[in-house]
Amino acid sequence: MINRIGVLTGGGDSPAINAAIRAIFVKANNYGYKVIGIRNGWEGMVKGNAFEIQRIDVAGTLAIGGTIIGTSRTNPFKIEGGVEKVLQNIKNFELDAIITIGGDDTNGVMYKLYTQYGFKGVGIPQTIDNDIAYSDFSIGFESSLEIVTEAIDRLHTTACSHNRVMIVEIMGRDSGWLAMYGGLAGGADIILIPEVEFSYDEIVNVLEERKKNGANYSVIAVAEGAKPAGIDRQVVASGMVDSFGHVQLGGIAKTIAEEIERRTGIECRTMVLGHLQRGGRPTAFDRVLATRLGAYAVDLVHQGKFGNLVTMYKGEITAVPVENALTERKPVDLSLYELSKLFA
Ligand code: F6P
Repeated sequence: MINRIGVLTGGGDSPAINAAIRAIFVKANNYGYKVIGIRNGWEGMVKGNAFEIQRIDVAGTLAIGGTIIGTSRTNPFKIEGGVEKVLQNIKNFELDAIITIGGDDTNGVMYKLYTQYGFKGVGIPQTIDNDIAYSDFSIGFESSLEIVTEAIDRLHTTACSHNRVMIVEIMGRDSGWLAMYGGLAGGADIILIPEVEFSYDEIVNVLEERKKNGANYSVIAVAEGAKPAGIDRQVVASGMVDSFGHVQLGGIAKTIAEEIERRTGIECRTMVLGHLQRGGRPTAFDRVLATRLGAYAVDLVHQGKFGNLVTMYKGEITAVPVENALTERKPVDLSLYELSKLFA
């Protein structure tokens, strides 16, 4: 019997999370359930930081980026006594189930608690990386894509005026979806993604070929996790490793710029889009997606279908066992990579 549903958002935020929380609240309310907002992701479950969400909390949040309940990259399984505290707080908050909104880390913790301790949960994919299997688009990807596209549009004109190579570094961790879609949408001349090792010789060929054809400038869209052939490590911004084992990526654009300048003498500039990609107003598509996924997650709780992720898959809103969604990978479709080369 369900009475109180917890909701938390974990990992990197993105626009449209609030649309999902709002839909969860409204749908749960419709069933007569209360919704408990856990503050700052799994940290709130460890520390016992939560509140009962009221209509006023979600009113007017559809258009607002970020998450009204906060987020963190906390992994209770990596904190001494963390899981015990979570289990105690489940009792303290009288939670009958939880809905987790995030990427593989956040939803993975939910799944572990479900399989190992019987705590009932449903997950919603939300990450600008868009790397969750059996999910066409995760919440936030499309909004982020708009930012990347606009940035590349703007960088084109200044690259052209100055006859430069402009290298735009795009988030995505080990996944190239954002760089690939952003690069295609913005008309980048070269798109580099983690799924395909790149070659400096090829980059230089493209730049020189373009020059011969009268294009004195180029725009390169590079995913932060991309790496050159023969070098088996990504460029990291710092030695920081989060509690899920992820390093902080950053700096590949600068590395590429230095190499191009060294090989060709062409003047390069870099632009790291960074957290701009995660902020601000959600697009209409993301708001509708988040609303549909949020409402459907509550339906699954109502029907007792736990251990699932609700996703949009092949255009339909559906439920996928977390195990399948999180153990399989969703690399960029290589036909997109081939297509991008056509425009070099
Ligand atoms: O997973 C989302 C993401 O934005 C990645 O694309 C990026 O590498 C990472 O989070 C950045 O994390 P943080 O906000 O902790 O710097």
